[in-house]
Amino acid sequence: MSTLPLHAIRSRTNVWYPLWDWNGKAIVMVEESGPPTQSLTFGVIGAGRVGAVLAASLRETGHQVVAVAGESDASRTRIETLLPGVPVRRPTAVAKSCELLLLTVPDDALDNVVRMLVASGAIRSGQIVVHTSGRHGMEVLRPAEEVGARGLAIHPAMTFTGTDLDLARLDGCVFGVTCDPAERSVASALVAALRGSVVWVTEDNRRLYHAALVHGANHLVTLVGQAMDLLRDAGSEDPAATLRPLLTAALDNALTYGDAALTGPIVRGDVDTVRVHLRTLAAPQYPRSTLESYVVMARATANHAVADARLEPRRAAALVGVLNDALTDSIV
Ligand SMILES: NC(=O)c1ccc[n+]([C@@H]2O[C@H](COP(=O)([O-])OP(=O)(O)OC[C@H]3O[C@@H](n4cnc5c(N)ncnc54)[C@H](OP(=O)(O)O)[C@@H]3O)[C@@H](O)[C@H]2O)c1
Repeated sequence: MSTLPLHAIRSRTNVWYPLWDWNGKAIVMVEESGPPTQSLTFGVIGAGRVGAVLAASLRETGHQVVAVAGESDASRTRIETLLPGVPVRRPTAVAKSCELLLLTVPDDALDNVVRMLVASGAIRSGQIVVHTSGRHGMEVLRPAEEVGARGLAIHPAMTFTGTDLDLARLDGCVFGVTCDPAERSVASALVAALRGSVVWVTEDNRRLYHAALVHGANHLVTLVGQAMDLLRDAGSEDPAATLRPLLTAALDNALTYGDAALTGPIVRGDVDTVRVHLRTLAAPQYPRSTLESYVVMARATANHAVADARLEPRRAAALVGVLNDALTDSIV
């Protein structure tokens, strides 16, 4: 088996080179002067949607996942199906057993988990401690860094089901990475091992970066759900089949052309069409939240169309007046 050195990873005491086989497999660490001496061992705290899938992906490419933590039935099922044979341990035992620790717990639990592991002595100097939260950057890992650990925040810009469906989606997945500049090599090597690509995010921009992804991906799901419900009410037997070609084209155009991709009544300034939609959606059998979403999104769409010089401000003002009336129940 041949090996291909890619990056040097500097720890505080040694210089390590990750070596890759020709299939792009395993990070094998060698000391600067010698042959391969060790593979990194991985441990995972949180066998949730993300943790179980990232660990399974690392195993697929020949890495050693030595222990995993997860208590609930859902986590145990993910371990059985995605990580068969990996020992299930308490979080402190997982941390003690590995060189690279993945913390894939809910955002709100992360701070406490880091502090608990540090206080119990489970995290040690030189260990690589990684979390996958979008909201958190490096600050949450400070207690681990204070005892000499090397922190990385790597957020996969992907939505996970926690099943093997996710494995193929990691190919080319972007990871938003925040870390000390000295740790960029190890972050790059880890993301490459997960078959992803790196986008560097500064600590200050981490929340904005995450808000953008949530707004785009999560709210898209709600928007599509509302559209499917309305189509069902309009008699469609297969709303997904109706929407798939339209939404796929809209998404593709938006990602390629930005605001220039806008079509429809708002950008055309068809005030009467919008008024008819609002009257229809205001009927009591439809959820109020769908009307509210329509109004808020239509206002934002009008603003974008004006900024793009495709909608005259006068027409936009008329549209916004109709939209405002819809939420004060005065639409006629
Ligand atoms: N889901 C996504 O699509 C996605 C995408 C990108 C990034 N992320 C990030 O990845 C992280 C994990 O998200 P997820 O969706 O995988 O979460 P999840 O499915 O809810 O899984 C959370 C895991 O953490 C464990 N856990 C919860 N509280 C814990 C604690 N106090 N101590 C130890 N373990 C604990 C849970 O164990 P039990 O089951 O035993 O409770 C479970 O295994 C989050 O930071 C999230 O922001 C998620």
